[in-house]
Amino acid sequence: MDTKIDLSTPAVGGFLRSASRSKEERLNPFPWYRKQLEKGAVLADDSYGGWHIFGYTEAQTALRNHTHFSSERFRNSGNMTNPRPSILNLDPPRHTQLRSLVNTAFTPKAIRHWSTRIQEIVDELLNSISINNETGETIDLVSTLAYPLPVIVIAEMMGIPAKDREKFKRWSDVLVEGPSSLTPEIIMDLMQRKQVAREEMRHYFYDVLTKSQHPEHSLIAILLEANLEREKLTAEELISFCILLLAAGNETTTNLITNFWRCMLQYPQALEDLQHDHSLVPSAIEETLRYYSPVQATSRIVTEDIEFYGVEMKSGDHVTIWLAAANRDSSIFTNPDTFDIYRSPNHHLAFGHGIHFCLGAPLARLEAEIAIHTMLQRFSSFQAVPAEWEPIISGFVFGLYSYPMKIR
Ligand code: HEM
Repeated sequence: MDTKIDLSTPAVGGFLRSASRSKEERLNPFPWYRKQLEKGAVLADDSYGGWHIFGYTEAQTALRNHTHFSSERFRNSGNMTNPRPSILNLDPPRHTQLRSLVNTAFTPKAIRHWSTRIQEIVDELLNSISINNETGETIDLVSTLAYPLPVIVIAEMMGIPAKDREKFKRWSDVLVEGPSSLTPEIIMDLMQRKQVAREEMRHYFYDVLTKSQHPEHSLIAILLEANLEREKLTAEELISFCILLLAAGNETTTNLITNFWRCMLQYPQALEDLQHDHSLVPSAIEETLRYYSPVQATSRIVTEDIEFYGVEMKSGDHVTIWLAAANRDSSIFTNPDTFDIYRSPNHHLAFGHGIHFCLGAPLARLEAEIAIHTMLQRFSSFQAVPAEWEPIISGFVFGLYSYPMKIR
């Protein structure tokens, strides 16, 4: 296998920056965002080159302006890590064509079809723990619920057999992993493991897609049917889309559920209010998305020289858009560092903005709502357990590998 990877390419640059963060900063990046926001909404990166956008309005403008801020992060890069782009890495007109095709499977109606099954999966996962009503039980929220739920749901939605779920999880973990340090060996090893995972997934999905039978209502059946009608997606694009669903949907939803409980146990008044009034669950989820955004940043490439809010950007410059910093911008959010489950309006950018707005947002919200509602119904007490937290080492994902909590 050709393992030549150009580490100077923009596609890798964002990961390098994030790899330089200490464990403390990964656990709590928010003071750094605050400091940057005080310096300016758009700043040059002195260490790695390119630009950082921290301000809300500036982030929204860049995300909306796909003509000057391209998502084709891998074009001309010679980077071996993703030679076949998915919709996340495409610009119009191809992005528009592919997105309209896959939208069918993610409409709120199509997603609602899965509510009953998601509830059953949550019940099965929670039934697996036995709780002593007197003393309560310490569980790891991540391995018990937050980690298996999205992977089981997406595997079932795709019509993938249960026996392959572990493989799924292993692949998606590698895809979102970031380098633990900046040594070339570690970065090279990670890039190679990502490439191996992609190749394994490619073969796996090729076999799945070319099978003659697909469960009715499965995502793959819907995609193939839409494709037959309009003959738009190549086999490579279908496979890349399946891989993206795994990479984009698992870790992010796991972290939404984990970050939700992290907020609740950090702010007991919010939890008390929620226990009295379960109808606050959706707005508490939105506030978690704003306050502890599971995806902290995304990136774009500048397509031609432009002046952007007072700075001169050059064609080819790499731009990191810090969604989590924009979500703490005081010009938009009153008391941005306060966790407020009553916050309204709450137009956070946690799912992005513009043409690449998260396709899976309705699914992520539904899974989180069902999981949290069920926990609130089943248990009356939730307590934090002192533990050494390990932050997820990933390019731009914000979460923990495990989260012990006591429930009763
Ligand atoms: C795009 C966040 C869950 C599928 C995005 C983007 C963000 C995001 C920020 C835009 C990236 C950009 O503009 O560069 C999240 C968060 C999630 C979540 C915070 C959970 C809390 C999911 C799920 C799925 C999914 C469950 C599907 C199973 C996608 C896809 C795109 C995307 C396909 C690309 C859309 C496009 O390029 O048109 N997500 N996501 N996401 N997400 Fe999600």
